[in-house]
Amino acid sequence: PSARLAALEQRAAIGGGADRIARQHQSGKLTARERVERLFDPGTFEEVDKLVVHRCRDFGMEAQQIPGDGVVCGSGRIDGRVVYAFAQDFTVFGGSLSETNAAKICKVMDQALKVGAPIVGLNDSGGARIQEGVASLAGYADIFLRNTLASGVVPQVSAILGPCAGGAVYSPAITDFTIMAEHTSYMFVTGPDVIRTVTHEDVSKEDLGGAMTHNARSGVAHFAVHDDEAALALVRELLSYLPSNNIDDPPFVASADPADREVPELDAIVPESPNQPYDMHDVIVAVVDEGVFLEVQQHYARNIIVGFARMGGRPVGVVANQPAHLAGTLDIDASVKAARFVRFCDAFNLPLVTFEDVPGFLPGTVQEFGGIIRHGAKLLYAYAEATVPKITVITRKAYGGAYCVMSSKHLRTDVNLAWPTAELAVMGPEGAVNILYKREIEAAPDPVAARGAKAQEFRDAFANPYVAATRGFLDEVIAPRLTRQRICHALDRLQTKRETMPAKKHGNIPL
Ligand code: COA
Repeated sequence: PSARLAALEQRAAIGGGADRIARQHQSGKLTARERVERLFDPGTFEEVDKLVVHRCRDFGMEAQQIPGDGVVCGSGRIDGRVVYAFAQDFTVFGGSLSETNAAKICKVMDQALKVGAPIVGLNDSGGARIQEGVASLAGYADIFLRNTLASGVVPQVSAILGPCAGGAVYSPAITDFTIMAEHTSYMFVTGPDVIRTVTHEDVSKEDLGGAMTHNARSGVAHFAVHDDEAALALVRELLSYLPSNNIDDPPFVASADPADREVPELDAIVPESPNQPYDMHDVIVAVVDEGVFLEVQQHYARNIIVGFARMGGRPVGVVANQPAHLAGTLDIDASVKAARFVRFCDAFNLPLVTFEDVPGFLPGTVQEFGGIIRHGAKLLYAYAEATVPKITVITRKAYGGAYCVMSSKHLRTDVNLAWPTAELAVMGPEGAVNILYKREIEAAPDPVAARGAKAQEFRDAFANPYVAATRGFLDEVIAPRLTRQRICHALDRLQTKRETMPAKKHGNIPL
């Protein structure tokens, strides 16, 4: 009897056979089982449904039965914590989704939700199993429903390690993070052939839906990596910042970096001239534990920086305006990028640390016609509804509506700090003076000198943190070198923060 089991297991293990496995390797990809081995702590992965086969009796499929049916499912441990995963096996019917293959994926998703463990999907599939028709489509919808129910309850991560086309894209799209392997993965709703027929556009698979397209252009993906190995290592790294579920705390990692460390180089980081850029990455890296920062969507909407770090050993979500790109203005893409990140952090108990240097929203018809009003509102809404500990540091500009949006005191932010270089105002001095003293300046014997004098007057009065500090809109104006210790202390004190939203079914965030 055990010989029969061994034979079945052996049949499952070889999947689509040696030739197809060789092809998978030649194309620079690992097989589903190799991926799972690398994803989990060594020896911890336990597979379920290894012997499941499809039930299709059309198109000669009854003669082609491969145990496992094109997907490897199960659970294991990552850094000792339980994680569930499915890995589509491209060597078996192109990893396509059959009724039974979908049922396997749903089984691990259901189990992950019950035990409160993250779900990792390793995608490499030709899409719906063509021979099964609508039964396969039903399988997709079953998965989408579970992605939606799990959203905000357990972290969900998708790695795209091969094709992911048609309806298949909507599972990764609902998950929290999408990682794409360069040159071997692509995602699109309709492929190059259909596009050529319908819109007469000529576009390659890579240009249409490759890793860099979705990382730099569409914003669909959050990370681009060189290959499968890097993708799997990144899933592990990403999960190290996240709790297993929404009622768990993010994992504490003791750090040799003292919470009280002063950062003297920050005292001189903001340039003298208000229009001169500096790289906000330098501020983030100088302040967080051991300078380790995992940036999310680093190629997209570079005028805002989001990502994970630890401070005093506690994982935090960092959001920061980037003066080195588009002067750090908020535009549609930046607002949407940051809003989704803020909501993720809020759902998973990750405190939000915001570094602010924002001259306002990006002007222009492209932005207005594109709906910057409703997209900018997303970020405002996300910060306002977030109940996790919130800390803001204003390094320089905090102008206009963008001041309100960027985790201002008025949005229930717990600790609002500013450097002496901070300028909190309705707009910059030049713009303000042009509006307030337009006629006076025009009538002056020397309009340039008059404008300069008025701007200086305005700067002295408002382009500083002190008016806001007298109102209590800032809790403290600090020397930049104290930024790390103030944030670490605040995180420590805010650990037990409790704040709730009024009871409701759900809000209506402007989508
Ligand atoms: N259903 C059933 N079998 C599929 C499949 C699908 N959706 N997609 C791929 N396969 C099978 C192929 O028949 C082939 O089987 P074989 O090894 O027995 O010959 C195997 O998977 C590999 O596919 P192949 O086309 O040889 O690989 P490729 O790397 O050249 O191309 C795709 C990959 C995904 C671009 C191509 O297979 C494809 O276009 N598939 C259909 C995609 C689609 O439209 N799906 C429905 C959308 S929801």
